[in-house]
Amino acid sequence: MFREMTGEYPEDKKALYPMLHNQLEALVEGIPQVIPNLANAAALLWLGLKDINWAGFYLMEDGQLVLGPFQGKPACIYIPVGKGVCGAAVARNETVRVDDVHEFPGHIACDSASNSEIVVPIRSGGKVVGVLDIDSPTLRRFDDLDQEGLEGFVRILEKACDWDRWDR
Ligand code: SME
Repeated sequence: MFREMTGEYPEDKKALYPMLHNQLEALVEGIPQVIPNLANAAALLWLGLKDINWAGFYLMEDGQLVLGPFQGKPACIYIPVGKGVCGAAVARNETVRVDDVHEFPGHIACDSASNSEIVVPIRSGGKVVGVLDIDSPTLRRFDDLDQEGLEGFVRILEKACDWDRWDR
């Protein structure tokens, strides 16, 4: 399994995302802890997705987003709901895809290399408990297939983790 994950990933997104879903299912199977699952999920996305410069998670704590496991350059730690692309995804309770972050009002530039971004909310018990955030140096990097694939990826994490105890 782990050997497989260092292998080649297909260019075709219709083949790529099912493979990433299968690998994530195998990684999280029987593991309820949020932090290790998100750490492995970020590492898997970093291996499998081309042309990205940041992949990771923010978790809701006391009404704001706090930096979680990720791959890429060090990032800002706190993001208020409604601020930046991540905060917008929480406030709207929906995936936010930004083709050009420089045109997004309030975008928070953690890495100046970022040009496009996708943020997928993570839900548990009817509430947003965090977000998956992926940045790319390429404009319009994320399309409908990426959105569908990454929303499926997040659904696996929503089911696998015990979100009531994420800070243990
Ligand atoms: N760009 C994000 C902030 C997080 S970093 O990209 C890792 C935003 O505007 O919410």
